[in-house]
Amino acid sequence: MNESGVAIPVVEALHGRKQAVPPVWLMRQAGRYLPEYRAIREKTGSFLALCSTPELAAEVTLQPVRRFGFDAAIVFSDIMIVPLALGQRVTFEADEGPRLDPVMDATLIDSWRGHIDDAVLAPVYDTIRLVKAALPAGVALIGFCGAPWTLATYMVAGQRTLDHAPVRCFAYAEPAAFGRLIEILTAASVEYLSRQLDSGVDAVQIFDTWAGVLPPDQFARWCIQPVASIVAQLRSRVAHAKIIAFPRGVGTLLGPYVECVEPDGIGLDWMIDKKFARDCVPAAMAIQGNLDPIALLAGGAALDRAVDEVLEAFANRPFIFNLGHGILPQTPIAHVERMVARVRDR
Ligand code: CP3
Repeated sequence: MNESGVAIPVVEALHGRKQAVPPVWLMRQAGRYLPEYRAIREKTGSFLALCSTPELAAEVTLQPVRRFGFDAAIVFSDIMIVPLALGQRVTFEADEGPRLDPVMDATLIDSWRGHIDDAVLAPVYDTIRLVKAALPAGVALIGFCGAPWTLATYMVAGQRTLDHAPVRCFAYAEPAAFGRLIEILTAASVEYLSRQLDSGVDAVQIFDTWAGVLPPDQFARWCIQPVASIVAQLRSRVAHAKIIAFPRGVGTLLGPYVECVEPDGIGLDWMIDKKFARDCVPAAMAIQGNLDPIALLAGGAALDRAVDEVLEAFANRPFIFNLGHGILPQTPIAHVERMVARVRDR
């Protein structure tokens, strides 16, 4: 329930309560596939300038909710805000994603301990307050951060790499220094997410986009353990915290992941076998996902079938309809409309 006593379906699902019509939102729902986003983005200059201007960030957060009537808004920002707040240089190259000054230096890493530049994060909290005041009753506001492992992949390599060799070599060669980086990111994430919850988000999502590239023992150490620690610490700081974990590519390690992390909701990618996933996830834990973003791009009867498969696989349990990863910028708006109608009017 929100202050006015209206139930928020996304939050209800995260309490383990099945909704007759599943709530729906999309990862990366604010962005380049929307003409109204592109119009604001063109006027704003850099992507980071947009993220750190609360009035504009609030506006682009609200755009997809207005257009499609989604059940949740996700705060417009980026996971790279945390490395920036720790003192790493971060820029965004047009259409190429983040560029950071690569770190493999233990002394530099140690210099970040306990350091977090609040001025970098403050605009996010202001955006949250503005969006919260403008959102229709019943629509959830979701905050987020990147999981320590996924942040480290970018922080060590300086950019996205295909094989994640830089970060994986560093973790093999200097596990103690790498462990300290993961600890620093874990502590910063707890601080950042608890401030987001204090500012008014209804739930938070932890994005572990590159969780799927590690062997099981390293997955336990660098993905499961830090995210489990964030979840436990967050709950002890904010009793009502509702938390969604999204370990993309988790595959056969889903069972141990949900058992150790114990999130309120588990985000699934589109690659996982739906029956396998259903059998691994406790009945009271919400599942979120997992439409293939390419099915949404393809549209037509193939999209309808893919939507139906997701709805049927996760009927009769707490469930939030979403994609299995972010919406692609070339996705036609009509396909999103068709998807939402199919979820709600079947
Ligand atoms: O609508 C929303 O979901 C809220 C905003 C949001 C953005 N990034 C805005 C963004 C969220 C939740 C993210 C998360 C994020 N950012 C992740 C985890 C989820 C995922 O998609 O894997 C990662 C790995 C990043 C890092 C990042 N930021 C990359 C790799 C890129 C380039 C690729 C791309 O999609 O453009 C970005 C840039 C970015 N983040 C844009 C947006 C709207 C595009 C910037 C622009 O408008 O020029």
